[in-house]
Amino acid sequence: MKGIVLAGGYGTRLKPASLAVIKQLMPVYNKPMIFYPLSTLMLTGIRDILIISTPNDTPKFKQLFGDGKRLGVRFFYKVQKTPKGIAEALIIGKEFIKNDSVVLILGDNIFYGANLEELLISAKESVEQRGGAYLFCYRVKDPTRYGIARFDNNMRLIEIIEKPKDPPSNWAVTGIYFYDSTCVEIASSLRPSKRGELEITDINNWYIKKKSVSYSLLGSGYAWLDMGTFQSMLDAQNFIETIETRQGLKIGSVEEIAYRKGYIKKEGLRYFIELYKGSEYADYLQEILNEKD
Ligand code: TTP
Repeated sequence: MKGIVLAGGYGTRLKPASLAVIKQLMPVYNKPMIFYPLSTLMLTGIRDILIISTPNDTPKFKQLFGDGKRLGVRFFYKVQKTPKGIAEALIIGKEFIKNDSVVLILGDNIFYGANLEELLISAKESVEQRGGAYLFCYRVKDPTRYGIARFDNNMRLIEIIEKPKDPPSNWAVTGIYFYDSTCVEIASSLRPSKRGELEITDINNWYIKKKSVSYSLLGSGYAWLDMGTFQSMLDAQNFIETIETRQGLKIGSVEEIAYRKGYIKKEGLRYFIELYKGSEYADYLQEILNEKD
């Protein structure tokens, strides 16, 4: 399975800050925002990752991550000329996806919780083995702002409604989507919605119609945060700070995940300890290096 991080967009609600720096490179507590979705893909076991961003910002991501060898993965880059919708990522990624399955994650999404790794891996394996799509839903207080799931009496997912005025549930579809290779064709056949975007919800509804969607509800033991506003960014920063300080563990440390997954060896981790020398982050990686095997 391939992975895509979509890290472009207008960042309208974050102006004027987003005029200076693209949102996904802004720090969320102690690391650039994109570390969080990237670490989620790496946790899933994805090692071929396409980063899609704006013409102006794609070179900055390239500069930050290079070809990915340092993290034991492969990074590829593509430009989205203008933000024409989340589903366009699958069209831009066509050559990259080829005939493989793919997991698309939004560059401003954080996922956190016990057993998340197992859950993600089982979504990956489900799509790899049986095809179709796999989605994750999360309970939200304000369902009018999201793509919201409608279930029948047996909790079968029957429709997703984008920003509903009259929400059929409180379960939002989160920004991580697992698809078989058909998603590229579906995306290519989409027409822009009323708001002028190629909607990921249209792709998801296509799979629902074909009865080939599976999903998991991320319950109270999980956190899903998306950062579109200053308030949600601040909430995310506070969340990360609280957990990291309390537990002495880092969330979204791509270097740690690369090491624990065996993508890089001790030597590879030492490179980052040297690169981050003088920071608390380097001390943290050093502690991991010192752990007994
Ligand atoms: P949005 O929240 O829809 O857009 P945005 O983050 O640019 O914010 P605003 O609404 O304030 O302008 O996008 C969700 C994520 O997907 C975010 O990480 C940006 C990214 N995105 C793209 O990269 N390209 C696109 O065409 C769209 C619609 C979103």
